[in-house]
Amino acid sequence: MPLKERYVWICTNRRADDHPRGSCAAKGSEAIIEELKRATKAAGQGPRVRVMSSSCIDQCEHGVTVAVMPDGVLLGQITAADVPALVRGLETAGGVLGEPSLAPRQLTEENTTPEALARLRRG
Ligand code: FES
Repeated sequence: MPLKERYVWICTNRRADDHPRGSCAAKGSEAIIEELKRATKAAGQGPRVRVMSSSCIDQCEHGVTVAVMPDGVLLGQITAADVPALVRGLETAGGVLGEPSLAPRQLTEENTTPEALARLRRG
């Protein structure tokens, strides 16, 4: 099986509704991943893009959290309304950060936990 150009992980971790950190599933990530899978397939991206669910990326407070590799991009606050921008971004060399609506939601060293960054860098 050939490698894809991009891999997209959407956190679908679920915690109890009253958990202090919240969870991406409680914020709608399960529906978002299904919509993104449908949309990337409809856009003909299936051979180049793989959309997958992820366990907790340790950015729960920023969820729904999405990781795009090999771009090394971590996005927070993703909603179903962002799916068209994600699909456009996955199509371009510039990636999802080329989308004006998504770029401001990139999680960086300034606004993420060190544990999450280390985990992403380890792969
Ligand atoms: S529950 Fe999604 S990042 Fe933790």
